[in-house]
Amino acid sequence: MNCKYYEDIISQRMKAVRFKHSKNVAKEAVRLAKKYGADVEKAELAGILHDATKETDGPEQMSLIRRAGIELTDMEKDSPKLWHAISGSAYIQVELGITDKEVIDAIRYHTTGRAGMTLLDKVIFVADFTSADRDFEGVDRIRRIADKSLDEAVLEGMSFTMSDLALRKLTIAPDTFAGYNEMAALRARSKKEAK
Ligand SMILES: [Fe+2]
Ligand SMILES: [Fe+2]
Repeated sequence: MNCKYYEDIISQRMKAVRFKHSKNVAKEAVRLAKKYGADVEKAELAGILHDATKETDGPEQMSLIRRAGIELTDMEKDSPKLWHAISGSAYIQVELGITDKEVIDAIRYHTTGRAGMTLLDKVIFVADFTSADRDFEGVDRIRRIADKSLDEAVLEGMSFTMSDLALRKLTIAPDTFAGYNEMAALRARSKKEAK
């Protein structure tokens, strides 16, 4: 796997600040992958590519999604904020010829999460919150949690996203609900067992 090759390609597709973010997410993904036993090369690749289409216009994103044979739900169609994760996973397949399902899925679900997240999904989801360039209120809390438990950090990230969306009266993706419910149930079960 040659990340430099992909870095050069995506640096042409985005402003310097987003390219920097992509490199930071890749770096944080590598750190988390080493810590939690995920595939380090895949983590770096998915980190570099996760926002590949974030600056791509809507019609082009839709075309990538169609070319990859992905069917959007009505809610996804109505939520442009969700498009770049989906079109990013389409882009790496149809334009870059990447066939690794784990990398494709980690990009596809990096914003929403989902039920049944793989280890790589979790690493990319959390790295996008905790990368060096992030400075939102609450980031240090998620960083601290990520140092102790990847699952707890995923749950924290999902609850952060859901609270933020709910406060702004925006829709919450069903994948986020499903992921949150699964992780919250897992947490409740493990707390019960620890008693
Ligand atoms: Fe993103
Ligand atoms: Fe990102």
